[in-house]
Amino acid sequence: MNTKSHMPLTNSLICFIFLSSFVYGQLDYKYYDATCPNLTKIVRYGIWSAISNETRMAASLLRLHFHDCFVNGCDGSVLLDDTSTFTGEKNASANRNSARGFEVIDTIKANVEKACPSTVSCADILTLAAREAIYLTGGPYWSVSLGRRDSLTASQSAANAQIPSPFEPLENITAKFVSKGLDVKDVVVLSGAHTIGFAQCFTFKQRLFDFDGSGNPDPTLDSSLLGNLRSVCPNQSDSDSNLAPLDAVTINKFDNVYFKNLMNNSGLLQSDQALMNDNNTASMVSTYSKYPYLFSKAFAASMVKLTNLGVLTGQDGEIRKNCRLVN
Ligand code: HEM
Ligand SMILES: *[C@@H]1O[C@H](CO)[C@@H](O)[C@H](O)[C@H]1NC(C)=O
Ligand SMILES: *[C@@H]1O[C@H](CO)[C@@H](O)[C@H](O)[C@H]1NC(C)=O
Ligand SMILES: *[C@@H]1O[C@H](CO)[C@@H](O)[C@H](O)[C@H]1NC(C)=O
Ligand SMILES: *[C@@H]1O[C@H](CO)[C@@H](O)[C@H](O)[C@H]1NC(C)=O
Ligand SMILES: *[C@@H]1O[C@H](CO)[C@@H](O)[C@H](O)[C@H]1NC(C)=O
Ligand SMILES: *[C@@H]1O[C@H](CO)[C@@H](O)[C@H](O)[C@H]1NC(C)=O
Ligand SMILES: *[C@@H]1O[C@H](CO)[C@@H](O)[C@H](O)[C@H]1NC(C)=O
Repeated sequence: MNTKSHMPLTNSLICFIFLSSFVYGQLDYKYYDATCPNLTKIVRYGIWSAISNETRMAASLLRLHFHDCFVNGCDGSVLLDDTSTFTGEKNASANRNSARGFEVIDTIKANVEKACPSTVSCADILTLAAREAIYLTGGPYWSVSLGRRDSLTASQSAANAQIPSPFEPLENITAKFVSKGLDVKDVVVLSGAHTIGFAQCFTFKQRLFDFDGSGNPDPTLDSSLLGNLRSVCPNQSDSDSNLAPLDAVTINKFDNVYFKNLMNNSGLLQSDQALMNDNNTASMVSTYSKYPYLFSKAFAASMVKLTNLGVLTGQDGEIRKNCRLVN
């Protein structure tokens, strides 16, 4: 009798200890409620101002967050400048002359430091910035759990190895997502981020003139879009950094038109249109092209997975004072 009644107590004690340490080391929706109550307001205002000045900034910040999370987790590593001890991610092939939005994060961080010094990580600011940017351009809104800490280092070689390239096949891109704990549905859903923003000609030009050495353009590229893209990206290297919208129909609106475009051969990157070459991913594209609400819900769910990848919590990492430098 004694031992029997003793058991549940021991179990709940073990359970309590386990749960409290579990919660301690993890993210929390109320993480800064006491220490930085105005955090969301400050970030929201910063994103609103940046987007009012330049609409594209919403897209740039979303991509910056993706590139942070895909390289050793959402730890603010992409924001670090090079130092004598490491070469950072800013000059990795996917980021060089391409990643944007650093000044916007610096401005928001400075305002957050004024309100609550040495309290909020750059990784959390970038996570909130991406959520606000998506919401302000018409996309879904979701609760962000907080408490990420900032990395003490960054790695250009990791960025080169881990960020997907528009020139690799879908299987390779999917493998990169799977290695992070994401899945093929996340590949399709998160590719829907290409409903906003721009790409430089060099990222898709191989489709326009001599696709795979055929002497012809990519047959899975709509001919009227082809004509427009050839005029933006003439067949000469000085057009390499010209810009074309990833979704030419609703350039700055976060909607499901990216998927409608893929349905009619109007994806911009080869890696976008490739989602139609596989039955499983093509059927998801078809669903999201018809049901904007399903895309919106799925995007928020996949973003939560993305924003929680490899986070530093508890005593790991630090709270940087300046997002570009380790303290
Ligand atoms: C699936 C593999 C992906 C590939 C191969 C890829 C590739 C690219 C490329 C090549 C560009 C153009 C960059 C430039 O020309 O400077 C771009 C832009 C962009 N990407 Fe992706 N991307 C992928 C996934 C994602 C994901 C998961 C997100 C976010 C959740 C995202 C968000 C964006 C945004 C918003 C832009 C426009 C940025 C701007 O206008 O500044 N991409 N992507
Ligand atoms: C939060 O912002 C309000 C004004 O929007 C200000 O009155 C208040 O002092 C701020 N609180 C903190 C803790 O910074
Ligand atoms: C506004 O956007 C332009 C680019 O369109 C940029 O050069 C400028 O620095 C931005 N200004 C502010 C205050 O963010
Ligand atoms: C960036 O990388 C390129 C190619 O690896 C290299 O040529 C260039 O010197 C690097 N630039 C900086 C500022 O590190
Ligand atoms: C795709 O992945 C395979 C296996 O890892 C690799 O051999 C191949 O070079 C990759 N292809 C591209 C275009 O990156
Ligand atoms: C594009 O330029 C290359 C090299 O200058 C040339 O060989 C090729 O014929 C051009 N293709 C088209 C379709 O103009
Ligand atoms: C492709 O779909 C978009 C979005 O629905 C539409 O605006 C565009 O005209 C279509 N293009 C073609 C060639 O059907
Ligand atoms: C994909 O769908 C096509 C057409 O519906 C079909 O012919 C093909 O067998 C399917 N492929 C696979 C691998 O299921």
